[in-house]
Amino acid sequence: MAQHIGILTSGGDCPGLNAAIRGLGKAARENFGMRVTGFLNGFRGLAQDQSLELDGAMLSGILTDGGTILGTSRDKPHRMIIGGKVLDMTDAVVDTYHRHHLDALVCLGGGGTQKNALRLVEAGLNVVTLPKTIDNDIALTDRSFGFDTALGIATEAIDRLHSTATSHERIIVVEVMGHRAGWLALEAGIAGGADVILLPEIPYQAEKIAEAIRRRTQSGRRFSIVVVAEGAMSVDEAREVAELVVARDRADSKKQRAEVSEKLNKFHAEHVGHTIRLTRKLEKLTGQETRLTILGHLQRGGTPSAADRVFATWLGTECAAVLNARKYGVMLALQGNRIKMVSIEEVAGNKRLVPLDHPLIGTARLVGTSFGD
Ligand code: F6P
Repeated sequence: MAQHIGILTSGGDCPGLNAAIRGLGKAARENFGMRVTGFLNGFRGLAQDQSLELDGAMLSGILTDGGTILGTSRDKPHRMIIGGKVLDMTDAVVDTYHRHHLDALVCLGGGGTQKNALRLVEAGLNVVTLPKTIDNDIALTDRSFGFDTALGIATEAIDRLHSTATSHERIIVVEVMGHRAGWLALEAGIAGGADVILLPEIPYQAEKIAEAIRRRTQSGRRFSIVVVAEGAMSVDEAREVAELVVARDRADSKKQRAEVSEKLNKFHAEHVGHTIRLTRKLEKLTGQETRLTILGHLQRGGTPSAADRVFATWLGTECAAVLNARKYGVMLALQGNRIKMVSIEEVAGNKRLVPLDHPLIGTARLVGTSFGD
């Protein structure tokens, strides 16, 4: 009998989601005779049984569109806010899956989605995931779709900021996305010729950044571009977080663990906007006029790059073949120049951070970029 496949997109949106839905939908329907149903707004659509049939008309004309035709959310099956209450909706999700007589569910998402997908695997569902996020930080895959587009947008922004920074002889701080992983800051910084790149993985000292800028001024270059990942931290801040993480992991009781977790959440909430403080600090330390640009969600919007369209289509069509072979519990990952299956269990809860010995860090240093360390 023909298989019936469910698809959902979850977590932050990114360019390439529609290309992946189209690649999967077309290959599944036209080559393998499957029926394909889309669930709306991430796991919420499964919990509340909101779906639409992905027929030929729905899958047509969406390759170049940004966002996701299915809508997305950061809802988790086991902690969903419904009518103002936090509820465990795992059973409702499982019921919807069976009510639709699905053979498998495909979840397109980042790190959080992989963890939620694993919960559904553990609840007995047949699940396959595809890696999407502009952060490029999903474990066991060399790349996630969305990253290439965001990299292009951030690089173009840095290029444009160069000419205004030069004209006014200013320091321009550019904040790019990336809470835990600095891939976007690192690559956009290198592509845009940033003078300073600050990553979550390399705690910085403001004085070291100021020194690098002063050295540029002394050699006659009176402007500087500082590319900062939103999760970058000073040495002191990084120490504070590390101590809280140790305290949380060593907590004797549930209550103590909850208290430390709350402190950690508070720290991260207050860290949003840290680039405003950094900008003021650099102005003070260097005596040079300094401005801040936060690229924010611009990096996630609009049409996907050619590379993301190709990669997302490739993942989608490979996924249809994997479903046809009835292989489940796996994420499709790019390793080298091949798409391989990796276990969702091994991906969930792990992040792909920039290793401190990554060759691109060496490359940036060799062209004179400071990491503020
Ligand atoms: O999806 C990844 C990401 O774009 C991160 O880079 C960023 O920190 C976060 O999402 C922003 O999330 P939201 O759109 O929910 O504010």
